[in-house]
Amino acid sequence: MTDGSSTSGPAWPSRIDTGAAHSARVWNYLLGGKDNYAVDRQTGDMILRMFPDIARIARVQRSFLARAVRHLAGEAGVRQFLDIGTGLPTADNTHQVAQRIAPESRVVYVDNDPLVLVHAQALLSSVPAGATDYVEADVRDPDTILEAAARTLDFTRPIGLMMLGIMGQLPDDDDPRAILRRLLAALPSGSYLALSDGADTSATLNEAIRIYNRNSAGSYHLRSPERIAGFFAGLELVEPGVVTTSMWRPDIPALGPSPTEVDAICGVGRKP
Ligand SMILES: C[S@@+](CC[C@H](N)C(=O)[O-])C[C@H]1O[C@@H](n2cnc3c(N)ncnc32)[C@H](O)[C@@H]1O
Repeated sequence: MTDGSSTSGPAWPSRIDTGAAHSARVWNYLLGGKDNYAVDRQTGDMILRMFPDIARIARVQRSFLARAVRHLAGEAGVRQFLDIGTGLPTADNTHQVAQRIAPESRVVYVDNDPLVLVHAQALLSSVPAGATDYVEADVRDPDTILEAAARTLDFTRPIGLMMLGIMGQLPDDDDPRAILRRLLAALPSGSYLALSDGADTSATLNEAIRIYNRNSAGSYHLRSPERIAGFFAGLELVEPGVVTTSMWRPDIPALGPSPTEVDAICGVGRKP
């Protein structure tokens, strides 16, 4: 590569924009990954200088993903997952966590970033008893997502809808609550929503994201804890409810002995 990229992998779609930072690639950089470009690293470093805790938020959110999937595949007995805004593959992707508990788990991943498509092979490494699929689609087009997911998931049986770091990608003008309602309406009773997003609880993070939005292809929209909690309207919250993302059933040694609050909010809710 001549642009300072350290990405590697199969055929490179010409659609990959290396002129502006993209959220999947900046997130990958913050998580210590190599699937990003110079422009993503510059933007990531700028945020890190202003708000170093962003790296911990990224790690904490990934560990929440694992904790939520373990709960859903374990105690809740869920065998199907729809993971929207998947991100670039990293350790412990949804199917790997779920299939360690229930090898028959079926997982559909959705993202709109062409680089995630390039690396999707790592998301398609299902064990033979289960299945995974990857759909390139925009969360603002829930009907396309639901139609494509139905190739792999049985919509008469419970599904875990994983929405981590994705609602914040949508400005209010896109009506994220309506998009979520459409997705949840398609799921049967006994399905779950697991969601985590950045909160507007730090003036420094608010400023860092304002600058990120000026320097990236997309934009991120921090919301108040109350508005993030509002995404769970109509669902029965699983204990401990909607909390700071580090505090949802913390059981991962990597978080340290007593996790402290982060500027991100999460929860898991069951569709009655
Ligand atoms: C912050 S990353 C979160 C990745 C992963 N869910 C996690 O929590 O580690 C956000 C992801 O959402 C994807 N994304 C952003 N806007 C999207 C959209 N409109 N439709 C689908 N995916 C989108 C990005 O490409 C990126 O992979």
